[in-house]
Amino acid sequence: MNMERRMPARLRGSAQLRDMVRENRIDMSDIICPVFFVEGKGIKEEIPSLRGQYHYSVDAFLKDLPELKSKGIRALLLFGVPKEKDAQADCAKDAGGVVQSALRALKEADGGMLLLTDVCLCQYKSDGHCCFFHGDGHIDREKTLKVLVEAALSHAQAGADILAPSDMMDGRVGAIREALDEGGYSHVPIMAYSAKYASSFYGPFRDAAHSAPGFGDRKAYQMDPANKREALVELLLDVEEGADFLMVKPAMPYLDIIQDARQNTRLPVAAYQVSGEYALLRNGFEQGILEEKGLFESLLCIKRSGADLIITYFAKDVQEWIGRYQTEGNCV
Ligand code: PBG
Repeated sequence: MNMERRMPARLRGSAQLRDMVRENRIDMSDIICPVFFVEGKGIKEEIPSLRGQYHYSVDAFLKDLPELKSKGIRALLLFGVPKEKDAQADCAKDAGGVVQSALRALKEADGGMLLLTDVCLCQYKSDGHCCFFHGDGHIDREKTLKVLVEAALSHAQAGADILAPSDMMDGRVGAIREALDEGGYSHVPIMAYSAKYASSFYGPFRDAAHSAPGFGDRKAYQMDPANKREALVELLLDVEEGADFLMVKPAMPYLDIIQDARQNTRLPVAAYQVSGEYALLRNGFEQGILEEKGLFESLLCIKRSGADLIITYFAKDVQEWIGRYQTEGNCV
């Protein structure tokens, strides 16, 4: 065949052509915005490790809510950062706890926003771990599951639309599903943090959530970054246990895992562009090292790898970039 006949660049010759053959698009309904809630009133404090993100008291957040909506945000992932943590993580399941109160206030103020909650113990437990331990240092799975289930139920009772367990305990999706079904919450879906790696990219979040482990690390429950097949074991187990969505976390350094999740399961796949990814990109933009449109490219790449949904701290910026780079016919 004549070499001239097969010219892929022929389809890149104009903005209209590029627009026509573009394989992936970002839509605001794909985007989930994390929010950190604290106790108190009138608080909106920028988080030093995550510039552009805030610790909000519920009343202060409600004031910013119309702006978030005007930026196209339709789903929030709520994190609670209580003042006092305790050894038993009691505040994780307290009906009047920080996340539960935020859920009630948000539901009352605005029925339209989808409210997801992170279900874990590390933000609430004094040692900053996602689980309890036996005296010999092994994970006390039974006790951990019991408290996680109670926390999950308290979120459902307070009005959570989707529960997102992020602890990585074996069997927690099944245990939470069973408790929801028995408790009259069979309509509440579970988004399982299924393939969650023991990643150094969570560093800025742990400052934001005051959840760095007080001793050791999370390698006994979060996954080894070297492992790929194991992610599939985790993903398929969560499918079996009744998850409604699967999640891979972090996102950008783990695109192969997102692709695996997409190709080997039928459920919607979410990817979490975590705090370290955000901080790296943002610092790059602020220092003039990276062009800011790299933000949209990063989301497109996560989408291309197979993610249906993206949790990102850039949520507030996405609509503007969709306008600039998708609907005006320009390539990234
Ligand atoms: C709680 C949780 C973490 C993140 C989400 N849920 C921290 C962790 O596992 O250490 C990280 C999110 C981020 O880095 O943006 N277990």
